[in-house]
Amino acid sequence: MTYLKKFRLNNKKAYILGGSGTIGFEICNALNDFGAKVINLDKKFNSKLKKNIKQIKFDFSNLSKIEKKLNQIFKKEGLPDIFVNCSYAFTKDWQRSSFKEVNINSIKKNVDLQLSSNIWISKIVAEKMRKNSIKGNIILLSSIYGVVAQDSEVYKNTKIKVNSIYSAVKGALINHTKQLASYYGQFSIRVNIISPGGIKGKIAGKRNKHSSKFIKNYSKKTALKRMALPSDIAPAVIYLVSDAGSYVTGFNLIIDGGWTIT
Ligand SMILES: NC(=O)c1ccc[n+]([C@@H]2O[C@H](COP(=O)([O-])OP(=O)(O)OC[C@H]3O[C@@H](n4cnc5c(N)ncnc54)[C@H](O)[C@@H]3O)[C@@H](O)[C@H]2O)c1
Repeated sequence: MTYLKKFRLNNKKAYILGGSGTIGFEICNALNDFGAKVINLDKKFNSKLKKNIKQIKFDFSNLSKIEKKLNQIFKKEGLPDIFVNCSYAFTKDWQRSSFKEVNINSIKKNVDLQLSSNIWISKIVAEKMRKNSIKGNIILLSSIYGVVAQDSEVYKNTKIKVNSIYSAVKGALINHTKQLASYYGQFSIRVNIISPGGIKGKIAGKRNKHSSKFIKNYSKKTALKRMALPSDIAPAVIYLVSDAGSYVTGFNLIIDGGWTIT
């Protein structure tokens, strides 16, 4: 037997929600390289994605319309074998989510956008797979901050603030993954979650890039002494959704250069 074959995704249909973003873009490319038919669902197109990756405009901010919209897409494009949710939705005041500034309205809206949407979308997808006897794979995205708290020292004298909601959402998503995996395992549907460390480049929710001060503060807390790259994350998706990861489910794969080991 050749082990290379276990990683092949030929004829698998892979939907990437948030495939126009930093991590999603790289995941689209990786899945495409391994033979999957990739469809990017995002509220905006990414012109840099390869031409054979289909892009469909999809905005999930109105939660009550998600099911109808997804059903329409699956009817037209085919059912998912693989579904990766690497979207990152937030309100306009997301940068003012420190404990000092945050208000209840913003908490509610961001929990809806980041947690309720994820729970609802993964339930719709898992049910589609179950009803159609698809031995599918679902991947969600958490963060190191779903496992440990943010360290305020890293943000000191930088333009990035500690966020009082993010950790709660990301921690909940890890347990939600276990719950999904536990129930859908009997239908041979696997569900896993990836928790990346900070990706070097664009600050989430802002146009500007990380300052050298932030990169230095952050990197020194990791064992590998550097921030992550999107290409550090994408290969893990291939392992988890292919036959190479056939006995892995409910797992939180932390990819953080050793941030959380001490
Ligand atoms: N970038 C990091 O440093 C980092 C670190 C750890 C975890 N993560 C997690 O990884 C995931 C992806 O992060 P990223 O850095 O690639 O984010 P990103 O902002 O670069 O990309 C997110 C994508 O989601 C899309 N999106 C946002 N709202 C949407 C909506 N309502 N409907 C449809 N699409 C929508 C955006 O258009 C964008 O293309 C997130 O869950 C994030 O929390 C990121």
